[in-house]
Amino acid sequence: MSDIWESIRNDFPILNRRFNGNRLIYLDNAATTQIPEYVLDGLMEFYKNSNANVHRGVYALSEEATDRYEKARETVRSFIGANRPEEILFVRGSTEGLNLIASSLGKYLFNGKKGGIITTIMEHHSNIVPWQFLQESGAELIFADIHDDGTLDYSFLDMIDENTKIVTVTGTSNVLGVIPDIKKIARKVHDAGAYLVVDGAQLVPHKEVNVNDLECDFLVFSGHKMVAPTGIGVVWGKYDLLEKIPPYMGGGDMIKEVHKYNATWNDLPQKFEAGTTNIAGAIALEKAIQYLKKIGMNKIEEREHTLTKMGMEIFDRMKNVTLYGPHENRASLFSFNIGRAHAHDVASIFDSLGIAIRAGHHCAQPLMERYNVTAMARASLYFYNSEEDVAMIEKGIEKVKQVFRT
Ligand SMILES: Cc1ncc(COP(=O)(O)O)c(C=O)c1O
Repeated sequence: MSDIWESIRNDFPILNRRFNGNRLIYLDNAATTQIPEYVLDGLMEFYKNSNANVHRGVYALSEEATDRYEKARETVRSFIGANRPEEILFVRGSTEGLNLIASSLGKYLFNGKKGGIITTIMEHHSNIVPWQFLQESGAELIFADIHDDGTLDYSFLDMIDENTKIVTVTGTSNVLGVIPDIKKIARKVHDAGAYLVVDGAQLVPHKEVNVNDLECDFLVFSGHKMVAPTGIGVVWGKYDLLEKIPPYMGGGDMIKEVHKYNATWNDLPQKFEAGTTNIAGAIALEKAIQYLKKIGMNKIEEREHTLTKMGMEIFDRMKNVTLYGPHENRASLFSFNIGRAHAHDVASIFDSLGIAIRAGHHCAQPLMERYNVTAMARASLYFYNSEEDVAMIEKGIEKVKQVFRT
C-alpha cells in the first residue's frame, strides 16, 4: 500500500481492532462505512461548543447552531453541484428520502389518477416498497429487467410513454455493482414528461456526482455510507418541484401558521424538515464531505478501481464460485456464492479469519428471485481498504472450499 493510502487508513481508529486474534478486515462498506477521527472530532466539537436547537432560539447559541446547520447544507449543495441550498433536505437516510419522495410526489401526481411507475428488478427494498404504497392511489408498478450478467436491460425505455409518471432507478446496485446510465434514462423520461428519481446510496460515496449532469429530478443518499455517522442523509430535489409537491411529515418548523383545522407550509427547505432534525449529524456530514474532498473524489474512484480490479482477478481465478454482476464497469463490491455453501456459512467462515462480509438477500429479494437464489455473500470495499484486505477474499474463499470440499 502506498504511503498516502496507508496514512489515510490510519485515520480510522476502528480498523485497528482485532477479533479472535485477527486484524479486522472490514469488507461490509456497502452496508455502512467507518468514520475517520476528523469526522468524530467534528461531531464532538459541535456538541461541546455549539449544541442548541435550530431556527427557533433568538439567543446567540441557537443562532450559532443554526448558522452551522445551514453552512452544512451549503457544503452538501456544493458537493453535488445543486443550484440552491433550499434544494437540499436533511433526512435520516436514503430510505427516509425515498419514502419522502414517493409520498409527496405520489400525492401530487396520482390522487386517484392512474399512471405508471417504472423501477428495476435490481433495486434495494427502499426503492421498491415506498412505491408499492402508491398502488392504492392508482399507480401501476412496472419492473425493468436485467440481462443475466446483471447489466440493466434498456429495452424498458421503450415502455416509457405519456402514461409513465415516475421512473426510479439505483445509481449503483448494492448487489451487482452495476452502474446504470442515468443520463440515457433521463432523456427518455423527460421526453415523456415524467420524473426521474435516483437512489444514490451506493453512488454518491464513490464518485463525483453533479445533479445537473445526472439530469435527474431527485437524488437521495446516506451519510453513513460515506464516512459520516448513521441517522443523517439527503434528498436533493429541483426547487420548482419541491415547491409544488406537498410536505411529507407534519410538525414543528415545517409550518408557517397552524389553526385548529388547517395549516400553511414553511418555505423550502423547512417545509420538508418537520421536528428537530439530526443537527449534529448534518455537521458531521459536512465534516465527512470535507474529508472526502480533501482526498479527492476522483482519487477515491481511482483507488477503488484499482482494488476492484484486484478483486476481479481473484474471482477470475476461482473455480466453483459464482460472482454476480458484470465483469467490466462494476462498482467496488462482489456478491457471490461458493458451490452449495449457504451464504451465511460463507460469512461465518470469513468471520473466523477476521473478515467482515455480509450475507443474505441484501434487501433485494426480487433480485434474489431473478437469480433463483435465496442469499449471496457480499464483500464491499471502500478507499481505505488495503491490497492485503482484498487478498484476504481469496483466503476466505479457500477456507470455505476446504470446509465444504467444493
Ligand atoms: C442501493 C441502496 N439504496 C438504499 C439503501 C438504504 O439506505 P439507508 O439504510 O441508509 O436508508 C441502501 C442501503 O444499503 C442501498 O444500498
